[in-house]
Amino acid sequence: MSAPAPGTVLKSLDDIPNPGGSPADYDALPIIILRSGETVKAYVNVCPHQGRPLSLPSGKTLVSEERFVVCPFHGASFDIESGACAGGPAGKSSLKPVAIEVVDGTVVAA
Ligand code: FES
Repeated sequence: MSAPAPGTVLKSLDDIPNPGGSPADYDALPIIILRSGETVKAYVNVCPHQGRPLSLPSGKTLVSEERFVVCPFHGASFDIESGACAGGPAGKSSLKPVAIEVVDGTVVAA
């Protein structure tokens, strides 16, 4: 699994619910891109609790209070801004960040 090279197109911003999330259009590493207001963040799409994806097979992503992404398997929640676990069975773990930037409405690797 390898991180995307800088400039790799990951997703159109319009294809990501706000607030919400969507898997990136990138196969070499599972990445989820999350939005809440003006915040756009990307993380490796692996829950640190048991290593399952944070998005459902449909790509739908559960968001609570417009600021937490919620793992659909056992309910761990993570702060969209920081990736830190905010509750549930993942303890003090955090999501692994992926560097991105938004360029002309497109999320690209930074
Ligand atoms: S795998 Fe995410 S909370 Fe268990």
